[in-house]
Amino acid sequence: MSSARVVSAKAHANIALAKYWGKADAVENLPAVPSLSLTLAALCTRTRVELDASLAADELELDGAKTVGRPLERIVALLDRVRAADAPRARVSSSNDFPTAAGLASSASGFAALAVAANAAYGAGLGAAALSSLARRSSASAARSLFGGFVALPADASEAERVLDGADFPLTMLIAVTRSGPKEIDSTAGMKHTLATSPYYPAWVAHAPSLYAEVRRAVLARDLELLGAAVEQSALMMHASMFAARPALVYFTPATLAAVETVRALRKSGTLAFYTMDAGPHVKVLTAPGDAPAVERALADTPGVLRVLASGAGPDAALEGAA
Ligand code: DP6
Repeated sequence: MSSARVVSAKAHANIALAKYWGKADAVENLPAVPSLSLTLAALCTRTRVELDASLAADELELDGAKTVGRPLERIVALLDRVRAADAPRARVSSSNDFPTAAGLASSASGFAALAVAANAAYGAGLGAAALSSLARRSSASAARSLFGGFVALPADASEAERVLDGADFPLTMLIAVTRSGPKEIDSTAGMKHTLATSPYYPAWVAHAPSLYAEVRRAVLARDLELLGAAVEQSALMMHASMFAARPALVYFTPATLAAVETVRALRKSGTLAFYTMDAGPHVKVLTAPGDAPAVERALADTPGVLRVLASGAGPDAALEGAA
């Protein structure tokens, strides 16, 4: 190829309401449990793929910094799945419009945006389902970021599917950021450790499908109270499986528990707000848009909460057009 080809795509982060934790197949990266998430408008990754026949190897820039090692290897693995062996190498640059240093999920939106951009740059002709499956191979939660609104990734499934448009059940997700440094143990390593050492892991895998079904039913019924109860139990059951690992995997900090306490107090005084936590100390709180300003203030006033991000449901991952 003589002329360089440049494509940009964007995708949004998602937060799981029914958690994925554990793999049925680590090579294919198939989840052991079904999950369901909300894609977030306010957390967006933009990824640009530039094909350049003069490059000897792929290059990666993350938030403006040249990056090598494991992040680059994961990018190359995805590119290798969509291109011919003799295709030109790529210069990939990716940036987030939200603070990644805090360890907020950036791999989901990052791999979803990369799947869309790489598919277009190399002319692979993949549709949405195949792109979701491609993103899942890199990071299972990325399969869900291909779609906007409420999105399910069934267990053992290759790709995610939309369950409901965000506009059909308007909710606000508030993210109480409780630390500015990166997380210490990433999800992939954490899952592996839980599976290998936690006696509670089989119980988690056995119970997760019924919680997922409850979350799905509550989303389709647009019932925040029912949804919130299942969301909290899914998060706590996932973390319980980590607590029982050896050594224990504890992502919570005092600020995490303080933010959880804030949510419980809000609920006692009649505000519908529900918490969830991932592989990090931050607390994500689901509430109705009308209650969001009060919940946001209460979280911001919680000791140890550094800042609060607010978001409604986000859209599908999409091309931004040839640059
Ligand atoms: C706690 O999708 O990051 O956020 O497939 O190994 O890349 P890999 O894991 P990843 O795990 C996300 C775990 C979670 C829960 C969730 O998003 O469902």
